[in-house]
Amino acid sequence: MGVKLGILGLGTVGTGTVQLLQDTTDRNPLLQEVEIYRVGVRSLDKPREVQLPEGVVTTDLESIVNDPEVDIVVEVIGGLEPARSLILQALKNGKHVVTANKAAIARFGDEIFTTANEAGVYVLLEAAVGGGIPVIQPLKQSLSVNRIHAVTGIVNGTTNYILTRMQQEGSNFEDVLVDAQRLGYAEADPTADVDGLDAGDKIAILASLAFGGRIHLEDVYAEGIRQVSKTDIAYAEKLGFVIKLLAIAKLHASDRSKLSVRVHPTLVPKAHPLASINGVYNAILVEGEPIGQVMLFGPGAGAGATASAVTSDILHLVATLKTSTANPNPLLACRHQDYCEIAP
Ligand code: HSE
Repeated sequence: MGVKLGILGLGTVGTGTVQLLQDTTDRNPLLQEVEIYRVGVRSLDKPREVQLPEGVVTTDLESIVNDPEVDIVVEVIGGLEPARSLILQALKNGKHVVTANKAAIARFGDEIFTTANEAGVYVLLEAAVGGGIPVIQPLKQSLSVNRIHAVTGIVNGTTNYILTRMQQEGSNFEDVLVDAQRLGYAEADPTADVDGLDAGDKIAILASLAFGGRIHLEDVYAEGIRQVSKTDIAYAEKLGFVIKLLAIAKLHASDRSKLSVRVHPTLVPKAHPLASINGVYNAILVEGEPIGQVMLFGPGAGAGATASAVTSDILHLVATLKTSTANPNPLLACRHQDYCEIAP
């Protein structure tokens, strides 16, 4: 029995996800279990970069979350509504949800996870933070045994791209922003990126995972990069710093029961590991005991990177749904035909 996907949205991330699912079935046998069953779009008239069989694409998004045949709803339309309502409806209908929607999770996480728990289904959100970087699963699992002291990240690709080009070329803020939009990094309305709100959503999610509570957006101080001038960058450079938009969640040194969560342009010493993260790349530095420091680094935005994270969640769910056939030790499996002979 295959696992049927209902994908909501065929924009940058939705298109990247469909392409990845269609082109890479040889990379993991679980991908062969996945069927792109329905795809919901706002308009049927828009030209598309992917081919889908007749009847798969619809403008009736509600029909997808209510379709009894759909096992997993992949929400990549972004924004708050109708994304929130569609996610909730899908969960109430017993469907697992994969979402890239940091804004909806940061604002409605309580409601979404309560509904998921009541329905006994999963909500996975690897693509919501850090684009293609696996950071949600590591915080939920591999790193969860540690007592985390701080999570410090460059979690917005658009602003890091803008600051990097301003620094390297002395470019002007507005021109670089237009490029970031053209390349698909910035949101259609870039306000959330440049004013630090997108990074605020993401650090609220990371902090909730790392510190085991629900961090609400009203508790996050967020300031963006509009006020950063070429002169600021030039002075920082002379003093041995770069300016980065950092998202920080940190326990107070003097009172470990208090947590500060904030986003703002920061002077970062050039020798700091986050100082060399340039362009659209993101990095998240996790500090805790007993592990010490771990830095996760990779492409923080863009179709392919984000699609990789969405697809990893889909595979995770397919493995869970098909526990009896999934190999719990994938490193010992022959996953790629070319490498089978050297597999143990
Ligand atoms: N606009 C976001 C960014 C996209 O620039 O990081 C990925 O969330």
